[in-house]
Amino acid sequence: MTSSTNHKILRKAIFPVAGLGSRFLPATKASPKEMMPVVDKPLIQYAVEEAVSAGITEMIFVTGRAKRAIADHFDKAYELEHQLEKSGKKELLEIAQGVVPKGVSCTYIRQTEALGLGHAVLTAAHLIGDEPFAVLLADDLIHGEISALKQMVEQHNFYGSSVVAVQQVSGAAISAYGVISGVQQGDRLYLLDGIVEKPKVKDAPSDLGVTGRYIFSPQIFEHLRALKPGAGGEYQLTDAIQMLLMQEQVIAYEFHGTRYDCGSKLGLLRANIELGLEHPEIGNELRGFLKNELFQKLQ
Ligand code: G1P
Repeated sequence: MTSSTNHKILRKAIFPVAGLGSRFLPATKASPKEMMPVVDKPLIQYAVEEAVSAGITEMIFVTGRAKRAIADHFDKAYELEHQLEKSGKKELLEIAQGVVPKGVSCTYIRQTEALGLGHAVLTAAHLIGDEPFAVLLADDLIHGEISALKQMVEQHNFYGSSVVAVQQVSGAAISAYGVISGVQQGDRLYLLDGIVEKPKVKDAPSDLGVTGRYIFSPQIFEHLRALKPGAGGEYQLTDAIQMLLMQEQVIAYEFHGTRYDCGSKLGLLRANIELGLEHPEIGNELRGFLKNELFQKLQ
């Protein structure tokens, strides 16, 4: 594998948030799935905080219809802030004001047709230009000491190439992922030689499934432009990665941290319970409830 120090700093991230979220109906009938909370924060805020922790300052949201709540969430809330200030609720005011840290900008662009993840990323091409960028899927909540994207940025800075996040997936579940094949190059690191979107279990090239974190060189756009419909008839980001790796080095990184699939009901519930247990306000009470009341009911 080759390393390089001659590359631009990562400043921009794309958040594809145009999906319908039909798996969560009726909750998502009128509000975006990315606004569903884990304890007290919407999923999209976890993803934005992860990007900020990795040094990203320009957030680009690829949105769709019925997604206005996301832009409102990252906007200044004058009336709310005024009320909190007037009633002396300083801590709550800080929470409301801290949703977008200083120096961070948010841009919104609409994906007018739901043609797939590859198409969503391509929609933001003109806002990226000729520099590397990250893609974060808010459905995948990753919790750990050092954020997954920050770990990936370190790899990107060292190797100068695109990086996709992977984790081991067991059994039939592998068919729900982009799956990589590659040669292991060191601790948690693989040089990609192939990637396929949602293969049948028998065709999966490995048990390493792609998790929703990517860092791309801008060359990915030429492959996104050349895409033909892939799995499920959609323009797949995975297919563009397959073309990219034939042109330049792409690495896969098995991050440290726990990933919750918040695109599924069970995953969202698990995230709520596990992050709830760590929450300074409710953690102890939740632990007591689970141990003393719920556990007994389950016996
Ligand atoms: C998308 C990607 C897939 C990736 C997954 C991770 O699929 O297409 O390659 O493994 O995200 O969450 P989706 O879950 O949107 O169907």
